[in-house]
Amino acid sequence: MIRIQQILPNTKITHLILFLAIIPVLQFADAQNVPQASEEGKRVYEKSCAHCHGTEGRGDGSAAENLLPKPRDFTRGLYKIRSTEAGELPTDQDLLDIITKGMPGSSMPGWETALSANERREVVAYIKTFHDGFKEQESPPRQISLAGKIAYSEESVEIGKGLYTELGCIECHGNIGRGDGTSAPTLTDEWGFQTWPANLAQSWNFRGGSDTEDIFKRFIGGLAGSPMPAFEGDSFLNFGLTSAESKRLTELENRDEMTAAEEEESGQYYEKMDAAVNIALNIAEGTELSAEEQQTYTEAMKVVYEKSWHLANYVKSLAPEKRPEPAIGNNVLRSQYVTDALPAKTDAAWDTLESSHFPLVAQVIIEPRQFNPTIDSVNVKSFYNDTEVAFLFTWDDRTHTTAEEDEETGNILEDALAIQFPVKIPQGPTAPKPYFLWGGRLPVYLWQWKASAPDQVTELTAKGINNAEAQAVQSDIQAEGSYTNGQYTLWVKRALKTDDKKDLQLEPGVFVPIAFSAWDGANGDINTKRVISSWYAFVLEPVPSSKRFIYPPLVALLSVGLLLGLRGFVQRRNS
Ligand code: HEC
Ligand code: HEC
Repeated sequence: MIRIQQILPNTKITHLILFLAIIPVLQFADAQNVPQASEEGKRVYEKSCAHCHGTEGRGDGSAAENLLPKPRDFTRGLYKIRSTEAGELPTDQDLLDIITKGMPGSSMPGWETALSANERREVVAYIKTFHDGFKEQESPPRQISLAGKIAYSEESVEIGKGLYTELGCIECHGNIGRGDGTSAPTLTDEWGFQTWPANLAQSWNFRGGSDTEDIFKRFIGGLAGSPMPAFEGDSFLNFGLTSAESKRLTELENRDEMTAAEEEESGQYYEKMDAAVNIALNIAEGTELSAEEQQTYTEAMKVVYEKSWHLANYVKSLAPEKRPEPAIGNNVLRSQYVTDALPAKTDAAWDTLESSHFPLVAQVIIEPRQFNPTIDSVNVKSFYNDTEVAFLFTWDDRTHTTAEEDEETGNILEDALAIQFPVKIPQGPTAPKPYFLWGGRLPVYLWQWKASAPDQVTELTAKGINNAEAQAVQSDIQAEGSYTNGQYTLWVKRALKTDDKKDLQLEPGVFVPIAFSAWDGANGDINTKRVISSWYAFVLEPVPSSKRFIYPPLVALLSVGLLLGLRGFVQRRNS
């Protein structure tokens, strides 16, 4: 809806839009299985769901206070993840699926293993009793047809990319989809709670799944209750006008005076819109459409469906097929050896490396906690040479916050990253590491970076999450940080060895524990309120040339010895 108001900013049309916006409320819900509150459904609900969704389904369970997005308020009948058209209720299967799989990127868990299939079906029937619309359903909800699927191709992705700009997705989702659009920090959902646009480059966090079909359904059906508009509303209810026509109408309406011909032209547009509104109302009320109306509607929807497939293909192109594997086992971060100077931040040499992926989770152990993380992960690459090591860290953050006062607390909030190492590398895989939350008895060595001083990294020593101090003597660490299109890039370079006993000392071939903390200022992150990782490891990939002269002579010695021994053995046997 937002965009339509922008294209057609005059009052007459705004009224029309407001009027259309209430259609889903007027709508007679359609019939499915009449919800029946079985004892079993109630029991399952009260045991597994009520502490989040509330005993009466209002989304106000005891755990709800700290959660964002909030647990669904079932009394309103607004469901985000549906196979049904805009304004419709979900099918039983939709509810069963979401309860089974959960909603990635939110606190809604999947119940596939914790509840039996029968328990899940019973709880579906039970949550339907919270909203009268389900009881009043007379016919099944209109399903979104997947019949005209447009297969993924470069061409379709290009068309989708054009639509992405044309339809104003950028305003919320940003230039290349990282959720950093200009409207991103201002969005609230139907219940008045802050909502962040999805980061389209991290499709593993999509609430309703990342298959092209899933994404397509979100466009046609919309995510009810969220500020994300259904595409239908933007096109057929582009109110029977083509984009060109609606632009033209705005232009005419903005004139101080219209000529007779212009009056007539604008009148025609209003007639077209009236017709579209009638059709929309008829559909909403379940009134049968005339043949002519049906045709107008079908044609309009065909265009909507086609565009949505192209858009879905474009969105699909923005993210990897699945979430990258975390940096353990075969994916452990390996710093690559170079003989020359280490590459600068923008050097193309970095493109030759694969990043290692470090998932981050909300810090919920120590107060104040963060229950609603907005930073998903940090990706890292590294090179080293005989004297220095360089790292390139990248992480997505929808907002660039360098120093902002928090209205509630007066705290100064800003984006930041900290990279944590032990001061002393544990000798062997079972040797104790410092406590992962910034150490304890065993201290940690940290590089602290803040968005307000992007070209500076401060060395800290910490013996606990609330017990960190900047080192009195700072080593010579070079750093360069920047923010573009919803992503930070930080380049850091340090000598492998320093004179300071409080610093980590590096040498090739040794596995070094590494961990991260990140703060999104716009999300209220400060001090312990942040996202964290536990310990991972990285290694300066052993230098082939320097190792060669250690191993081969050793192997040669061993085999000479072996041969000698063998000759003695053979000689003894022969004699
Ligand atoms: C830890 C809290 C928590 C628990 C426990 C929980 N939910 Fe949820 N649930 C949520 C949150 C949060 C959302 C909303 C996520 C969003 O809007 O992105 C949600 C959303 C839903 C939705 C809405 C899906 C949609 O399409 O909008 C359904 C249905 C649902 N939950 C059912 C259940 C059922 C049934 C149970 C118990 C078996 C349950 N939930 C347990 C937190 C929880
Ligand atoms: C007014 C802001 C706004 C606009 C405009 C907008 N979106 Fe969204 N979008 C959101 C928000 C907010 C969410 C998160 C919804 C939620 O989970 O509650 C979202 C979620 C999504 C998702 C993830 C769905 C899922 O399953 O979690 C996709 C994909 C998406 N948007 C694509 C688009 C595309 C493509 C366009 C343009 C046609 C668009 N959006 C326009 C705000 C917007």
